[in-house]
Amino acid sequence: MTNAAEGRELTQVGPGTVMGNLMRQYWLPALRSSELVAGGDPMRLMLLGERLVAFRDKAGQVGVMDHRCPHRGASLFFGRNEEGGIACVYHGWKFAAGGQCLAMPNLPPQQDFSQKVRARAYKVTERAGLIWVYMGDRAEAPPFPAIEATLLPEAEINILFVQRECNWLQALEGDIDTSHFGFLHVGSVKPEQVPADNWIKYQVNNRAPDYQVADTDWGTMYCAYRPAEEEATYWRFAHFGFPFWTFIPQGEFSRLVFARAWVPMDDTHTMFVSLVWKGAARTRSLADGKPIPGATPTLEFLPNTTDWHGRWRPRQNAANDYLIDRDAQRRDEIYSGISYIHMQDQAVTESMGPIVDHTLEHLAPSDQMITRTRRRLLLAARALRDQGTVPPGVDDPTLYLRIRSGERVVKATNWQDAYDDGIRQAVRPVGERLAAE
Ligand code: FES
Ligand SMILES: [Fe+2]
Repeated sequence: MTNAAEGRELTQVGPGTVMGNLMRQYWLPALRSSELVAGGDPMRLMLLGERLVAFRDKAGQVGVMDHRCPHRGASLFFGRNEEGGIACVYHGWKFAAGGQCLAMPNLPPQQDFSQKVRARAYKVTERAGLIWVYMGDRAEAPPFPAIEATLLPEAEINILFVQRECNWLQALEGDIDTSHFGFLHVGSVKPEQVPADNWIKYQVNNRAPDYQVADTDWGTMYCAYRPAEEEATYWRFAHFGFPFWTFIPQGEFSRLVFARAWVPMDDTHTMFVSLVWKGAARTRSLADGKPIPGATPTLEFLPNTTDWHGRWRPRQNAANDYLIDRDAQRRDEIYSGISYIHMQDQAVTESMGPIVDHTLEHLAPSDQMITRTRRRLLLAARALRDQGTVPPGVDDPTLYLRIRSGERVVKATNWQDAYDDGIRQAVRPVGERLAAE
């Protein structure tokens, strides 16, 4: 069980907090590359409880820095995106994307001390259509995590950002809470609606499977399993990877190259970042050829605003009860009455409140993955604080290459064998691409 003090340790991410310091060891996916246009408007960016300004200078260089101007603290959000950097509109001090002050035009030349002033800027890079930020204090940033989906070019992946109005941990835990799938998402699907070649049949025939959970070098993993035909077993594998990555089991293991990040904006807002390889297998439709009721394919967003929390907000939200359709719920057509799988998850995790009160929980054996993941996070964050132990994946980024999630139906004597065998047969688009070059 998680007590109130542990709950705070796990959920607070601002500067100087235990979990905030852990997060600052890693590269964070923060924006879509397309959100910043060369020479375009600066943007307010909230990341790990810090108010930042992000911009792309005319040469294409991205800057991410404290939004407060080092002169007298005016917000650089109002700044002018000029040649060479961003100029504060108060007294015109100009800063390069890397933070160096370039000009102090309100001072006579002999008084200029611009070489001595830097804005608090973070290291930035672009990969897989995303802008990544390193907020730690190493002079040299750590290597990139070798998470398979993030090694693919933007053209080969589908990217989705969705803001969630709650703490990062409860949002992430929705992805490793596997037993909700048979209720929240397919609770109204009857076994006879599912064709024989759709593996959802195993989930709607048995909504209370057995589990195995284990610590791994990169985080934690679980396997849920149910008997299948001819002595085979239906296995579902999923992972948590430090510090906020999940790899969920819905999809065919051999081709399921994707990654999901739950990036804390602050303690009560999270940016979900999803990368899916275009070659990954899709969810199959039901017997009548239709998708699962409520599993609509597209998400509608409110227009982005310049607010600290103005980006990627869905049109379905707490203020409109996520557009719940009570008739569909009553008719048992959509179990939750809420359309779109991601919004079903969003509704339940946001409904827990901005930060769930862990002392109210009654965790069950079906929550072992959640309990173990919290413990793994807490121990790693405390080891960093107390012994300076670098957490998993920071200096050994290839750990992530051993991660693959998804479903398999095979004969195997135990889940580890079923996993290892799946890894050996997995399709590797990154490897294939490198081979083709
Ligand atoms: S506050 Fe920015 S230049 Fe003075
Ligand atoms: Fe879910």
